[in-house]
Amino acid sequence: MAILRRFTLLCALVHMCVTTEYVLNNKPFPKNEGFTFGTATAAYQIEGGWNEDGKGESMWDRFTHLFPEKIMDKSNGDIACDTYHKYKEDIEILKDLGVTHHRFSISWPRILPNGLVNHINQKGIDFYKNFIKLLKENNIEPVVTLSHWDIPEILQEQGGFQNYNFPDWFSNYSRICFENFGDDVKYWITFNEPTIQCTGYGQNFYIPFVAPFAPGYNLTTVGGEYVCMHNLIRSHAAAYHLYQKEFKARQNGKLTIANAACRCYPASDSREDIEAADRCMQFSLGWVLHPIYYGDYPEVMKERIDYRSKIQGYPESRLPKFTLAERQLIRKTSDYVAINAYYTTYAKSTPEKEINDISPYSDAKLTVTFAEGLGNTDGMGDLLLWAHNEYGKPDIFITENGLGLETASLEDDDRLTFLKYSLSHFRDAMDAGVNLLGYTVWSLMDNFEWFIGYNTKYGIYQVDFNSPNRTRVARKSAEWYKQFIQTPCVHLNCTL
Ligand code: BG6
Repeated sequence: MAILRRFTLLCALVHMCVTTEYVLNNKPFPKNEGFTFGTATAAYQIEGGWNEDGKGESMWDRFTHLFPEKIMDKSNGDIACDTYHKYKEDIEILKDLGVTHHRFSISWPRILPNGLVNHINQKGIDFYKNFIKLLKENNIEPVVTLSHWDIPEILQEQGGFQNYNFPDWFSNYSRICFENFGDDVKYWITFNEPTIQCTGYGQNFYIPFVAPFAPGYNLTTVGGEYVCMHNLIRSHAAAYHLYQKEFKARQNGKLTIANAACRCYPASDSREDIEAADRCMQFSLGWVLHPIYYGDYPEVMKERIDYRSKIQGYPESRLPKFTLAERQLIRKTSDYVAINAYYTTYAKSTPEKEINDISPYSDAKLTVTFAEGLGNTDGMGDLLLWAHNEYGKPDIFITENGLGLETASLEDDDRLTFLKYSLSHFRDAMDAGVNLLGYTVWSLMDNFEWFIGYNTKYGIYQVDFNSPNRTRVARKSAEWYKQFIQTPCVHLNCTL
């Protein structure tokens, strides 16, 4: 999701100043009732050790090695933060911060180098076992993502998410994870940001161009992004049911999927823009969550894509259809809603595009603009309320929230302010009735930011990528987060 910032917001964010009239919430978060604060990372972005100890190749290994020019600084995640060797140091940092959970992902090819379960890499299993054990010893709850974009290359060569067999591959891999780590994991996330993952096979209405995202396919004319999502949702549901059947009784964990989400407001009070804002929500968050809560894609997506496909001469809609059996299987496969929150947007309705314009962008029939600077935090509470109302008051977990900056400076006041205001809006949403379980900063430390490489920094810890030691140093935002977790209130004068 954060990709767009690159193209729209950079200047506005770098020298962000507080102009809003908004007053910070003065109530503490209910830490004593179990509200949890944490940080997040993802395997390919930090681990390094890309071919060590029997790890297989991931699609991001292949993509960055084959097309270095597609990464802005021509870098890759071969070493990244070297967490594969430095994880104990990372856990020391987490301990010092005082977080009560940490979200990280498992590299599927580190565990299953062939993608399939015929060959299990014990050293990969041991790495994550040790990692989880150390977290638990320090009273840090692991929140585990099974797949944060780095699927095994060998499965990618069979089409990846275009392959109808993906649910079998994924649930077999999930079983290995549940068996080996499940006794210590209470929060599972199957996939990270499906709407962004699927841009690797085409486009997205938020990203109306072919993004340099692995595997880098341009399958929009055959509905590649929609097919990807279809198989991804089927895979999520397969893993969910597997867990319920074989592990839930003993392990009692909760499963969901993590979503890139923005609150889309109408750009004006015209009926067209109000409807466009609704389409914007449904073509983004609804694309994933409507099937998972109600068993099918949102009506407005079906209507629009079916209509465009028909006038474009396709025999079938570019949006695949779930069978009745699939609809029953995919509905109610979420124990909580996981949201990665970065932006607030404004949707404007556009005229119907030319018939030969085949894209999710013309399907959605709208344009989005992003709020500027701190304005991006304005819709964060409303975003949670939207999900609360749309999906029957589910528990919600913020699984990512953060700000990318071009500077490596330790004085990251802009980030600190962004985190503080986001938290305040989330606390407002709790006042309005949202059941928020926890909050997670993206990211614990600077890392490989996908096609951007290393020049955009998200870390509350700075990482020196020029040093073989990958030295980590706390930024001002880390010091602030550490203090905040103790209170935990964003306002100077907190009331109970
Ligand atoms: C989220 C992803 O979209 O945002 C993370 O889950 C990512 O993996 C983060 O690093 C920042 O995004 P970007 O596009 O700046 O790399």
